[in-house]
Amino acid sequence: MSTPLWSPSGRSLVVHADNAVFLPTLPDGAFTMIYVDPPFNTGRSQRRQQTTMVRSTDGTGDRVGFKGRSYSTVKGLLSSYDDAFEDYWAFLEPRLAEAWRLLADDGTLYVHLDYREVHYAKVMLDALFGRDCFLNEIIWAYDYGGRAKNRWPAKHDNILVYVKNPAAYHFDNAEVDREPYMAPGLVTPEKVALGKLPTDVWWHTIVSPTGKEKTGYPTQKPEGLLRRTVAASSREGDWVLDFFAGSGTLGAVAAKLNRKFVCVDANPQAIEVMSKRLGHAADIVSGDAVQSVASA
Ligand SMILES: C[S@@+](CC[C@H](N)C(=O)[O-])C[C@H]1O[C@@H](n2cnc3c(N)ncnc32)[C@H](O)[C@@H]1O
Repeated sequence: MSTPLWSPSGRSLVVHADNAVFLPTLPDGAFTMIYVDPPFNTGRSQRRQQTTMVRSTDGTGDRVGFKGRSYSTVKGLLSSYDDAFEDYWAFLEPRLAEAWRLLADDGTLYVHLDYREVHYAKVMLDALFGRDCFLNEIIWAYDYGGRAKNRWPAKHDNILVYVKNPAAYHFDNAEVDREPYMAPGLVTPEKVALGKLPTDVWWHTIVSPTGKEKTGYPTQKPEGLLRRTVAASSREGDWVLDFFAGSGTLGAVAAKLNRKFVCVDANPQAIEVMSKRLGHAADIVSGDAVQSVASA
């Protein structure tokens, strides 16, 4: 038997792999917080890829135990409205099912989507995980780029938040940065000085094209956004995971907040960027190493 690539007492990892191959090598319940920012379903044809999940743990190879018939019914209905969504979901669903398996009992899953997909995805995720596990929809509002003239310009992303166990999940908003009051004249000077707790609408600039946070990776998300998710939904020393990691924003935040992280991406450019950004805090795992463990 080959040595696992990840161990609870080991170092953080940056992994070069298709997440469908790597995730099944990880044990159940290992992560307190998982954030994913999958490629959006805009270039829809690029999603037409078959996924074969190779499970190394229990050999069942499927998501038996999720909401069974009701899930299949919802999936059938949504697909009949939009068959391109079916392709997108065929790519995402087995990976999100793996995310659910990897979440600790007190864990939280953040799924970053855009306004075109989020409504279908919400219905599917409710059916897959259980509506009682839905915690929030966070709206990330920004203001950048061109403005459509024929409709309200779309300037937000959506982050769906699900908890593994609604009775036991970890959430500590006292750890999160606070915001200025919109009407400071209406509250006490003490409250103004402290700031207010964020709601589910987060105004945050995109990564500045000239700022020091910029890595050059095209879909890089701002650290400020992920800092809130990591700070509220994990503790120091916990493990966090991003398996569509891109430039490794989740890893960068996790390292600064003393969490351990696993960041996975299939794109060699992403691994190059993450090696520079996170190499001080993580071991870099090659695609060959993943293949040999996954096929053992
Ligand atoms: C929207 S980007 C993530 C950006 C990231 N949140 C950041 O802040 O830089 C999505 C990433 O998913 C990666 N990806 C797409 N399919 C993948 C797969 N099957 N396995 C692993 N990574 C994948 C892409 O290479 C891309 O880097």
